[in-house]
Parts: sequence; structure tokens; C-alpha cells
Amino acid sequence: MTDAVQTPSNGDFTKRVFSGVQPTGALTLGNYLGALKRFVDMQNEDYETIYCIVDLHAITVWQDPEQLKNNTRQLAAFYIASGLNPEKSILFNQSAVSEHAELGWIFNCVARMGWMKRMTQFKDKAGKNAENASLGLFGYPALMAADILLYDATHVPVGEDQKQHLELSRDIANKFNLDFNSPDFLVPPEPLIQKKFARIMSLKDGMKKMSKSDPSELSRINLNDSSDQILNKIKKAKTDAEPLPDDESKLANRPEAENLLGIYSSLCDQTLSKTINEFAGKNFSDFKEKLANLVVDKISPISSEINKLLKDENFIDKVLSDGAGKASQIASEKIKNIKKIIGF
Ligand code: TYM
Repeated sequence: MTDAVQTPSNGDFTKRVFSGVQPTGALTLGNYLGALKRFVDMQNEDYETIYCIVDLHAITVWQDPEQLKNNTRQLAAFYIASGLNPEKSILFNQSAVSEHAELGWIFNCVARMGWMKRMTQFKDKAGKNAENASLGLFGYPALMAADILLYDATHVPVGEDQKQHLELSRDIANKFNLDFNSPDFLVPPEPLIQKKFARIMSLKDGMKKMSKSDPSELSRINLNDSSDQILNKIKKAKTDAEPLPDDESKLANRPEAENLLGIYSSLCDQTLSKTINEFAGKNFSDFKEKLANLVVDKISPISSEINKLLKDENFIDKVLSDGAGKASQIASEKIKNIKKIIGF
């Protein structure tokens, strides 16, 4: 793993983290545990942290303009309510820094059709109706590479579902460096994918990712769910007929049990084996009650903070515009050098 690289933009030896989340509506427990909670933890470690609300990515599928604006502010509030400190981390929305779109186009000309056609997320998202999907949805991972490489980010925390896109970013960086004879100019980023609980799964199907786009409300916990909704969703979560296992190896072929135990462990910041010891041999109903109370305890302070923050739109807009100002300083310097290398 890359530990320290020299970033041309600031001349310091640093580990720089970049990551992003789409402002596409209700935020789930999967986004919190798979992304936001980790982003905040990293801000308090030895990293320079840059977090982006990727609104350019959001419009690869239709977004109602008014709704998009609300979702962007809501996501900013979610970052801050989860503990992101705008003094420590850069927080901004992607469309406010035009270099993202500019470099995205350049990478459309670097990435190969063959690479893009292998992206499984496009196939999942476009489904059977690929002919009718936007060109942006197809090119989405090239823009994601631009987000990361524009900042010489060394580390990118993401969930398991983004792994292939990160590999593509590395391929684009290497091809650019090779094509333009500029060794080490773009920094191939290291994906940081949590080993445990990299995917929080649907409450209705332990083989499917918990997702804001799942048609079933019962499949996910939204951050703005009331306590009653959370209790009800966990009560109705799919399980199996066995009591809880006394050993991790016995979770094989029990995806729902593994997911619920994983959520519990992740929220408590403890290992899966500790949780297994705590509940070994118990019925799901006992465990679900504890889990539901834990989710409510952890989620409700965040959702009430989100609601409080959303009452002050000016504050949120100021955080985002200050963040965009800081991001622009890095991005404009990098794009200047990229243009020089290309011959613009
Ligand atoms: P998005 O908005 O779909 O999801 C944001 C982050 O949340 C993670 N995630 C999950 N993790 C665990 N379990 C789940 N059920 C779950 N659902 C979502 C995702 O893996 C992701 O890390 N393409 C990205 C956004 C992006 C980006 C970037 C990320 C754009 N540019 C540059 C990193 C770097 C996306 O659609 O995330």
C-alpha cells in the first residue's frame, strides 16, 4: 500500500483521501456504515481528507432539479451530522469545481471502450434497457477517475461495489502516464475497502446490497426513519430458522444472520466474533430487539442533527462554497499541468 507520495500540488509528503457520495435521495445505513462513518474516522487519523458530493454523477439518471438541490444540502448535512468537521476536511459539491468535468472528458479519450464495457455497475444500473441509458451513465467511471486523480488522492475509501471503478481509475492513470510519457504524473490510487462489513446487505435479501434504489422500503434503514419505522423494519428483517451461531465459521450460507450480526458489530465498533459470543445460541427475536435499540440509539442523534442543520441553508451553502474554493485551488493547479502535457 502507498504510504506517502509527494503531491505536486502542495509539495508536502502526505496521505490524501478522496471519496464521494451521490446526492440521490434518502441515505441508508449502508451509506453510513460503508462510507460516512469511515470518512469521519479518517479525518481524525493521519490523512488529509477531501469529500465530494458528486452531483455530476447523480444526473447520469434523471434528477428533478429542485429535488437535486435539496438532496445536495441534505447530504452535506449528513456529512456534518456524522461528525465531518469542515475545518479539518474539504467538503464540496462536484459541479462547483469545473475541472472535474474537464478532466472527465479527457479521460473519456483515454479510457477504452473494452474497459468500460466490462463495468458491472453499468450493466446492473442500465438493466435490460441499456439502449435507453444515458451516455453519462456509461462514462460514469471515467468521471470518477477524474475526481480522484485531479487531487493526487493516494487513498480512496469505498464500499465493495466500487472496487471495479477504482481499478479502472488505476488503469486510466497508468495509460495516461504511458501515452504522454509522463511517468508518475498521475497517482494510481489505493482503494480502501473495509475487510469486514464492506457491504451492508438488504434486510429482505442477504445476497443483495442495501440500496436507496431498492423498491422495497423494508429492505433498508433510512437515516430519516423514525424509531418506530426502524423497530418495525428490523422486526420484519429476513432471518433463517436456526438460532444464532456460536462460531464465525457457522455463518457460511446464512447471509441474513451474517448481515445483521455485521451491522451490530459495525455500529458497536467491535469484532464480529465478539458479537457472536454475545448472542451465541440466542433466538433472532432477542437479538433483533437489541439490534433495533442500538440502531435507534446511533441513528436518531444523527437524523435530528441533520434536521437541525437543514433549517440553516445559508450555513450549509457557505460550508460547500468554502470547500469548493479550497478544492479549486488544488484542482486548477493540476489541470493546468495536465493541459500542458496534452498539448492544449
Ligand atoms: P454511492 O453514492 O452509490 O455510495 C456512496 C458510498 O457508499 C458505499 N455504499 C455502501 N457500502 C456498504 N454497504 C452498502 N449497502 C452500501 N451502499 C453504498 C459505496 O460503496 C460508496 O463508497 N461512484 C460512487 C461515488 C463517487 C466516488 C468518486 C467515490 C463518485 N466519484 C470518487 C469515490 C471516489 C457512488 O456511486 O457511490
